[in-house]
Amino acid sequence: MKIFIKTYGCQMNERDSEAAAAMFSARGHEVVDHESLADVLIFNTCSVRDQAERKAVGKIGFMKKLKKERPDLIIGVMGCMAQNRGEELFKELPHLDFVLGTGQLHKLADIVDSIHDDRRAQVALLEPGDEVLTGLGAHYNNSIFASIAITRGCNRYCSYCIVPYVRGREISRSIADIVDEARELVADGTREIMLLGQNVAAFGLGGNINPPPPDHSPFADLLNELCAIEGLKRIRFTSPYPSYFNDKLIDAIAAQPKICRSIHLPLQSGSDRVLKAMNRHYTASQYLEIVDKLRSKMPDVAFSTDIIVGFPGETEEDFNATREMMNRVGYDMAYIFKYSPRQGTVAAKLEDDIPQEVKEERNQVLLSDLEKRTAETNRKLLGSTQEILVEGVSKRNAERWSGKTSTAKTVIFTPGPETTVGELATVRINRVTAVSLFGELQPTPLRGN
Ligand code: SAH
Ligand code: F3S
Repeated sequence: MKIFIKTYGCQMNERDSEAAAAMFSARGHEVVDHESLADVLIFNTCSVRDQAERKAVGKIGFMKKLKKERPDLIIGVMGCMAQNRGEELFKELPHLDFVLGTGQLHKLADIVDSIHDDRRAQVALLEPGDEVLTGLGAHYNNSIFASIAITRGCNRYCSYCIVPYVRGREISRSIADIVDEARELVADGTREIMLLGQNVAAFGLGGNINPPPPDHSPFADLLNELCAIEGLKRIRFTSPYPSYFNDKLIDAIAAQPKICRSIHLPLQSGSDRVLKAMNRHYTASQYLEIVDKLRSKMPDVAFSTDIIVGFPGETEEDFNATREMMNRVGYDMAYIFKYSPRQGTVAAKLEDDIPQEVKEERNQVLLSDLEKRTAETNRKLLGSTQEILVEGVSKRNAERWSGKTSTAKTVIFTPGPETTVGELATVRINRVTAVSLFGELQPTPLRGN
């Protein structure tokens, strides 16, 4: 069969879709990149904001016409919205053939095969307490980049967030399992690995939400083992909850040049009052302490973050605290979200009292601050020497190549005869614009492999 998978939402969903593609391909099915070519359409969905669900429902609804023309077509939904809405989705979208909740990836190919044989609709949902780690390891994309899911689920219950309800309890894979997967990837040509989890820094803590003592961090142990893999050039991770950045983790990151100097540290709000209402267990000043510690050990580290504007009761003063905090940290990048109530969460019981226009305006203010800062950060890099991981021919200009710095900035440069995809190279930044960096290749790498 020919399979088409459309992915919505986060990198974890991208990863699940990739693993699904690998499983189908291992069974002799073909993965295609357009719905019109496919016998099976799979929508891997997101629930984190209402808009994400509406978008997927709209798109799947639109497939009804296609199903009328081709009744043999198999249409299924998986991921967080599948888990969140369950069987009820058949009512809204009667042309659906299956609903596959989270943590059920290992059942996907069997379900599709059985529908192909008997055309009977199927549902498989995650039951609380039934969290499993199967079906996470298969890879499909052949590139120098790969992602590895190291944990599943989340135990933090931030008051606005639906993830703990739809992704289930937090469980961690074993270090040995992850290292094996990484070794295989590197043997196949992977040079940069992104470690994924809803709360990666809580890796290996058995779901305990109390941050560990300063000298204990299974996540640091995992990073150290991965850094020892020869041929692996870079490691990134997302997302860590700030409170788990203890001395052991900070020191491990600082000691390993393979760990990228670009850290995503979700802040959500700069107001202690709002943080408390969000059930985020840190204050603005505790967050800053972590940022300052990381910066003192790694002066070149770049930060990115997630922010929610318009959380219930967010005053102008609360918003200004967020704005000030963002300026103080000086993020290179930020995802700014307008609060959207999610049924079943604690915050959904509060009145969604910030008008849409105010959310929009606060969003715009933060985005424009951010834009100014990015332009300034780029200007500061002019004349500096940077190590980049070479990615290949630039999308815009075939004579130029591109690569990324450890801080995740793309640099455009003219390749030399020795330039190789997946190798580290040294460039001097000789031109910058508000959005791009241009560099000149330098003869010696900053460090070995
Ligand atoms: N730690 C997770 C976060 C998942 S949700 C991870 O990165 O895997 C991603 C981001 O969406 C959150 O950090 C938060 O900023 C935003 N978000 C979550 N629930 C939201 C809601 N109800 N409304 C608006 N934004 C939300
Ligand atoms: Fe959501 Fe908070 Fe977990 S944002 S994914 S409940 S850390």
